Amino acid sequence: MRDGEAFLQGLDQKARTFSAAARATVSANDDLCSWLLDPLARWTRAAYGEQAFADAAKGYAQYCMGVWKSQQLYEKNGRYSPEPMPEIVSEVYEHEGYMVPYMWAAILIYPFWPSMINHIALYRNDFLKALPQNARVLELASGHGVMGLLAAETRSDIRVDGFDISPPAVAVSNRLRAASGLEQRVNFEVKNALAFTHDDSAEKYQGIIAAMLAEHLEDPRPLFKAIAHHLADDGLVFFSTALESAQRDHTFEFHHESEPLKMAEEVGLRVTKLVCDAGSPVRGGRFLPRALGMILQKR
Ligand SMILES: C[S@@+](CC[C@H](N)C(=O)[O-])C[C@H]1O[C@@H](n2cnc3c(N)ncnc32)[C@H](O)[C@@H]1O
Repeated sequence: MRDGEAFLQGLDQKARTFSAAARATVSANDDLCSWLLDPLARWTRAAYGEQAFADAAKGYAQYCMGVWKSQQLYEKNGRYSPEPMPEIVSEVYEHEGYMVPYMWAAILIYPFWPSMINHIALYRNDFLKALPQNARVLELASGHGVMGLLAAETRSDIRVDGFDISPPAVAVSNRLRAASGLEQRVNFEVKNALAFTHDDSAEKYQGIIAAMLAEHLEDPRPLFKAIAHHLADDGLVFFSTALESAQRDHTFEFHHESEPLKMAEEVGLRVTKLVCDAGSPVRGGRFLPRALGMILQKR
């Protein structure tokens, strides 16, 4: 790890409680974590300056505390208790002061949480490296934009169109994009992923990314329909979601790995690889937070 070390130093300085665990995960998975953190650190420094590493650390700490509180409440109530969707949209997705720190956390959990490490491997080795030559890639819920930018950085033959419902998230992704030198092949826009369901265009993509989106929807089935509709016959999907993991903006509660798997099968997709790892449960709790990732293709 070279440039990416700046994110860990940010934790040392601004979120010390979280630093040792993050360092342990990174050093046990140096190849995967460097693949993500090194380019991200270069883009971050160029886009936002040195201060961004402290800001990212604060955002990560704030997010981890929020997740911990939500999981406690989940255990108490026995179900997710999200705010109504219009409030999630105005207080989370449209709120710059909330969304920007959240976006730093959303990408930093990949290298810092042991339950997300296999997602990096699945994304890089089983999705990006396996995409057809010159693939057009659609990213739904591109958020910070880092997955799409890493895709273009890793595969110099592909193009990526990313969409996210959140204007402040798209602003972050566009700032990193401008610093990445990948502008010619990556584009980010504000758009509701569910708009793709009703979009009858014949546009097909050889790669579709829908990472950590399904649990944010009231019903993920239209998302699976949209994915199946827009996937080219030789295309691949990287899909991921959270199970039994409460968060302020998690609305759809998956309990079993079979639930997203069945939703994929119902729209004519086949699962070729699946990973699922548990995070830390509340002690004595009945729910086990997990992160599931799948590679899908047409049957
Ligand atoms: C946890 S973040 C995931 C970001 C990124 N895909 C990742 O894996 O790190 C969830 C993202 O979903 C976006 N989102 C939520 N509902 C959406 C919708 N209906 N259409 C598009 N984006 C949505 C949010 O704005 C946020 O950027």
